[in-house]
Amino acid sequence: MKSIDIIHSEHRALASVLQALRFVVGEIGAGRLQPDFRLLSSMVDYITQVPDKVHHPKEDDHLFPALRARSTAAAGLIDALEAQHAEGYRMTVGLLQALVHYQAMGDKAFANFEATVLEYLAFSWKHLNMEEGELLPLARKNLTADDWTAIDAAFAANFDPCAGAQGEFEVLFGCIVSMTPAPYGLGTAR
Ligand SMILES: [Fe+2]
Ligand SMILES: [Fe+2]
Repeated sequence: MKSIDIIHSEHRALASVLQALRFVVGEIGAGRLQPDFRLLSSMVDYITQVPDKVHHPKEDDHLFPALRARSTAAAGLIDALEAQHAEGYRMTVGLLQALVHYQAMGDKAFANFEATVLEYLAFSWKHLNMEEGELLPLARKNLTADDWTAIDAAFAANFDPCAGAQGEFEVLFGCIVSMTPAPYGLGTAR
């Protein structure tokens, strides 16, 4: 089940950027860190683009349809997850707007940016937990070896980790790690 490993690793990468964003925003709010808009923009860029362009297509186009075909019990969960993908896209637009407003207006717009970030983080944790805790166990239980072979082949055909957009996002992930202050990254506090 190479596909499950790929989904897990993308969830882990996304979760680590979300945790780093929570840390950085908390440190700015506490007055221990000056806002680094290149770092904040890189984080928001990652959590806006990677789900939409890299991760959700794997779920929407391959994993969800395969599970729908095998399990009527999974239908309600998949409906909810698909709706969350659409809602997540809408929320990342709000996140981008709040970040632009914060950069333009400075400190007086921080509270709005922080509230938007916290709302997005809560939403994303819920989505990741539903997929890790409910969807993937159902997929493991219900999908056949042939289903996994087909999904693995589709992932391999469409998502070469060494090419295209995913390569760009690995570079972006590396930049975020290098800019985020310890203990969540390798950067130094400013
Ligand atoms: Fe998802
Ligand atoms: Fe996911």
